[in-house]
Order: sequence, then C-alpha cells, then structure tokens
Amino acid sequence: MNLPNLLEAKKRNNQEVLVKTNAYIVENNLKNLGLNKKYYIKTYGCQMNEHDTENIKAILEDMHFTESTDMENADLILLNTCAIRENAHNKVFGMIGRIKNLKEKKPNIIVGLCGCMAQEEVVVEEILSKHNWLDIVFGTHNIYNLPNILKKAMNNKKIEVEVLSCEGDIIENIPVKRDSKYKAWVNIMYGCDKFCTYCIVPYTRGKQRSRQPEYIINEVKELIKQGYKEVTLLGQNVNAYGKDLNIDYKMENLLEDVAKTNIERIRFVTSHPWDFTDNMIAIIKKYDNIMPYIHLPLQSGSSKILKLMGRRYTKETYLELYRKIKEALPYSSITTDIIVGFPNETEDDFEETLDVVKQCKFDSAYTFIFSPRVGTPAAKMQDNISLEEKNERLQRLNQLINQYSKEANEKYLGKIVPVLIEGYSEKDNNKLMGYTDTMKLVNITGNKDQIGQIVNVKITEIKTWSMDGEIVNETDYVSI
Ligand code: SAH
Ligand code: SF4
Ligand code: F3S
Repeated sequence: MNLPNLLEAKKRNNQEVLVKTNAYIVENNLKNLGLNKKYYIKTYGCQMNEHDTENIKAILEDMHFTESTDMENADLILLNTCAIRENAHNKVFGMIGRIKNLKEKKPNIIVGLCGCMAQEEVVVEEILSKHNWLDIVFGTHNIYNLPNILKKAMNNKKIEVEVLSCEGDIIENIPVKRDSKYKAWVNIMYGCDKFCTYCIVPYTRGKQRSRQPEYIINEVKELIKQGYKEVTLLGQNVNAYGKDLNIDYKMENLLEDVAKTNIERIRFVTSHPWDFTDNMIAIIKKYDNIMPYIHLPLQSGSSKILKLMGRRYTKETYLELYRKIKEALPYSSITTDIIVGFPNETEDDFEETLDVVKQCKFDSAYTFIFSPRVGTPAAKMQDNISLEEKNERLQRLNQLINQYSKEANEKYLGKIVPVLIEGYSEKDNNKLMGYTDTMKLVNITGNKDQIGQIVNVKITEIKTWSMDGEIVNETDYVSI
C-alpha cells in the first residue's frame, strides 16, 4: 500500500527527470486478464484527465478488456477523478454511492478510483474508513503500472492503494486509444510549479516536467500520418514549457516546430499570463496553422487579490498583454477563467474584475466560486464573505460574461469561417457539428462524407452557446 502524502507532494527537487521508453510493459501472464471482461470508465475534470483516460483505455485493451458505455454491464468500473473544487469531489462520492449498490448485487466487479482525487490524503482516508469495499485506488503518477495494480486487486480481496506522492519520470511508451479520429490531445508537459495559493494541481500532478521536443514532434508527425487534422498541446501552464529542460528551447520554439510539421490546426491550453512572451505572439501570428484562439485565465481583476492568489501579474499587466495579443491578432478569440469570492475579496475588488471583463469583452469564460482545498495556503486564509454574497457576485459576473459572449458571437452572423467537422450534433442527429478556428461551436446541415474535413461555413444563426451554419464553397473570409 502506498498512501498519498501532501507534504511530499509539495516538495520540489532538482533531481533530473528521466525519459523512459520501456517502463510500460504488460507481462505475458497479465495479457489475458481482461479476456471476456468489460470496462467502464467515467472521467471528471480537465483535458489532462480526458487524455489520461485515453491512455487508461489503451492499457486495459492491451489486457483484452473491451469498453462498455453502460456501467451496469461492466466487470471493471473506474472513476478518473478531479480535485479542483468541492463540487467535483462531491459528484464522485455521489457516484461511489451508486456503484456500491451495484457492487452489492455483483460482488465480483472491480471498482477503482484514480486521477487527482486519489492524490489527496483526505480522500484516501475517507475511502479507507468509509468505502473500503473499493478494490483499487491509484494516482496520476501510477497509470503506467495499471496492469500490475489490477492483478494484485484481482488476486487479493483487500483494497489496493498505489499512490506515489513524488512524481516519477516521463514514461514515453504508454499506449493511447484516442476518442477522436480527427483531433488529438498531445501532452507537452506534466505537473505545475506555479503554486497559485488556491490550487491543488501542483500537489496532485507534481513538479513541472516538460517532454523532450523530439517526442512531441514525432507524435504530431505520426498523427498526421494517421489522418489527424488538429492537435491540442496540453499542459497546466504551457507557456512555461521548456523552462525545466537543460536546453534553450521554449514554448515559442515548440510552437514553431509543431507548425512546421504542417498539421492543419494547432491549439494549446492553458496559457498563464505570466509566461506569455512577445515571441509567442509573433509565432502565433506567423503561422496560419496555429489557431487564433487563446485561453488566458484572469482569475481576478483586482491586483490585491491577484497578489494573494500568487498569480504574479497585476490588473494592468494582464490588460497590457490582452491588448498586445488583440493588436497582433485582431481576429483571435480570447476566453478566460475567473474565481469569485476569494478570501476577503471586497465589493471593490470584485468590481475590478467586472471592469476587466468590460474592457476585454471575452468570447467566453468559465466562472467559479472559490473552493477551499485542503493543504493549499488559501484554504487557511480568513474569509469574511458569506456564500450568499459570493453567489450573488457569481450571478452578476455571469450576466456580464453572457452579454459579451453573445456580442462576440453576433459578429459572426453572415460571415464565412473554417470549421473542422467532427461528427453528428449531440442535440440534433440530422446535423453535423464542429468548431471554428476561433473555437466556436457550429451546427451545420451537411452530409456524413464531410466528417473529418475542414470546410467553409456561412454562419446563418446565432444561439446562446452555439451557432448554426451552412457549408459554402466561397473561400473569401470576411474579417470579423
Ligand atoms: N492551469 C490553469 C488552470 C487549471 S484549473 C491556469 O493556471 O490557469 C482550471 C480553473 O479552475 C482555474 O483557472 C481556476 O479558475 C479554477 N480553480 C482552480 N482552483 C480553484 C479553487 N480552489 N476554487 C475555485 N476555482 C478554482
Ligand atoms: Fe493551478 Fe496556478 Fe498551476 Fe494553473 S498555474 S495549475 S491555477 S497552480
Ligand atoms: Fe482536475 Fe486534476 Fe485537471 S484536479 S482540473 S483533473 S489536473
């Protein structure tokens, strides 16, 4: 048993990160572990977790498990969890309650919890004391070892907990079963060293570890061969890419080298305003295949709160960066994340946030109420703002955000924009769906041969969260 330890997870060392190309192996005696068995996996949280799930699926299929989209039918149920806010946590415990009923009816099913919540001491303590009927708990650094963890769990009748609190090396040979045939997640770095005072990620994902550029470029080249049209470069703080490598190679170099592979579309998330350089802006402008879409979390518009959050930029420097990006890339869409109700955020502080929103008129924003996470500095800060007040601020903020989203979308009406058609629309099976270069969701009338293609679409109607359009042949984009 290896239990999580927050103090260990907080430590950063200068130990060199090794790149291992053969750490993932499925021993012969484990290869048939999943024969005639089905797995069901539910994913919570960010793109990083979604991509981890793609790895977990491939590992399970290496052991001959087959996927089931119906939990009731599965022999193995995994919850790949997120620890970012209390409600993510509550959803998972709610789900564990449902699965308990299933396990009572079918005691032979294997139930596991993995992902960021597995890295939290409080979570594992709660599982061991209240839900020790679970079979496995494994952390974000243990994914490559899943075959062995599963074998132990299937042989023993006791709960198997394998959570490393010190990040391991970079494992380059983990297989992947991608959800899409057209767009792919590509990790460029793991972990985060920013330690924003509210955030649990540096503890659940460990220290920043950038992948070597050649592995990233080769992965992209391989994806092109397989017919992929779009890659999204993934990291908690992609602009800090390369800072931990022993070579002089930064995010702007990586972006340029990925652009030169000629993959049709490149996206990257998430950008921290702190590390966003002029060179990066210049590279995004230079290459047509780097999409004009930037997710640039603001968190707060108050310089006082930003300081307490440990974000290391001010209201003014954020606005300056925003203007620089818009000046260089006027067509780009910029989205953001905002936290309201950080400890002791005053009405004046909150109004500073509204002021930034009014100045930037974001294309869209994810907004959250501050959620204290055990082990982070902000969870210990005195807080004199009531939840009622925080909710009221969230509503005021959302109203403003929605107004600007709508305005941003309305600029598209009648314009022709490129859309990568991904498949059928979830809401209307007679329609196709895809995203514009600027990451706007569009529902389109078209035929299935167009799935996987980048087509020109004339926007015919604007809705609150999406747009409708029709495919046209004209290529004359009208600037927005
Ligand atoms: N790496 C990204 C953020 C990843 S977490 C960045 O630095 O911007 C996604 C978002 O969740 C954050 O941008 C933040 O707005 C929100 N978030 C993180 N911790 C939170 C907390 N304790 N309470 C409320 N929201 C939080
Ligand atoms: Fe969390 Fe800050 Fe790292 Fe983003 S940059 S993952 S908010 S610590
Ligand atoms: Fe959640 Fe972990 Fe991502 S905490 S947001 S799943 S890195």
